[in-house]
Amino acid sequence: MSYPHRHLLAIEGLYPPAIQHLLDLAENYVSLNRTGKTQRDLLRGRTLINLFFEDSTRTRTSFELAGKRLGADVINMSVASSSVNKGETLLDTAATLNAMHCDLLVVRHGQSGAANLLAQKVGACVINAGDGAHEHPTQALLDALTIRRHKGKLQGLQIAICGDVAHSRVARSNIHLLSAMGARVRVVGPPTLIPGPITRLGVEVSYDMREGLAGADIVMMLRLQRERMSSGLIPSAREYFRFWGLDHEKLAFAKPDALVMHPGPMNRGVEIDSAVADDPVRSLIAEQVEMGVAVRMAVLDTLARNGARHD
Ligand code: CP
Repeated sequence: MSYPHRHLLAIEGLYPPAIQHLLDLAENYVSLNRTGKTQRDLLRGRTLINLFFEDSTRTRTSFELAGKRLGADVINMSVASSSVNKGETLLDTAATLNAMHCDLLVVRHGQSGAANLLAQKVGACVINAGDGAHEHPTQALLDALTIRRHKGKLQGLQIAICGDVAHSRVARSNIHLLSAMGARVRVVGPPTLIPGPITRLGVEVSYDMREGLAGADIVMMLRLQRERMSSGLIPSAREYFRFWGLDHEKLAFAKPDALVMHPGPMNRGVEIDSAVADDPVRSLIAEQVEMGVAVRMAVLDTLARNGARHD
């Protein structure tokens, strides 16, 4: 079995064949989605619950769309109006959903390890849709799929991941995935936003955009997560943009055919200039969103086959 797991909690620890399996299956779903054909029998009778303790536009919506395209009954739990507000714990909430015979549980939570904890307590297959600064595995998969479709491979590519690495689960999942698939990853940003131990993941570090972008095939910008910063790690948004924000002038440091990515949501004029974000030749940002639906269909399909409960 290429993907031998019941859950998708992290990219770290996945072997390349498991990643390859999800990317290849997602590629099929891209084609299927573009023809308008459906696969509604695959998850018919299965229940997917989206349990998001943090805000989301892309991830929650694309899991909903992916589940519906495969025929699942999809429930979006609004945490804001749930009994969590009356003090119910994460585990009691999960136990309640478990008792309703949920098959697939998609969870986003502010604490690293929350998805892992749930996976040990519920019968459903658990998918991590982002846990604290730990991982966001489906984001890395959709990023890899997007890169592979444009560059034809991941092996040997030079990827610069730029900006607020310290708070980014997207960065961590991408570092694990891209390194496992043979790409060379460099993280670029101010010293206050690049944790020292990141070098243990095998990445190069640069504090300078000119040096960090040199030779890059892909420039992946990260959102400045000001809501997770307890103290002033940057002088001001204006100064951050001057040194670390991607505009066409800085993009010229990368390879002439380098492509630009951003997981969204974007802070325009802070980490990325609108002229780059909206550049139809260099920016892959809209395509990343499209790939998100296909990747999430591939993940749901795979986990359902591997053991989603079906009473
Ligand atoms: N990239 C991402 O996770 O976006 P959302 O927060 O909108 O889901």
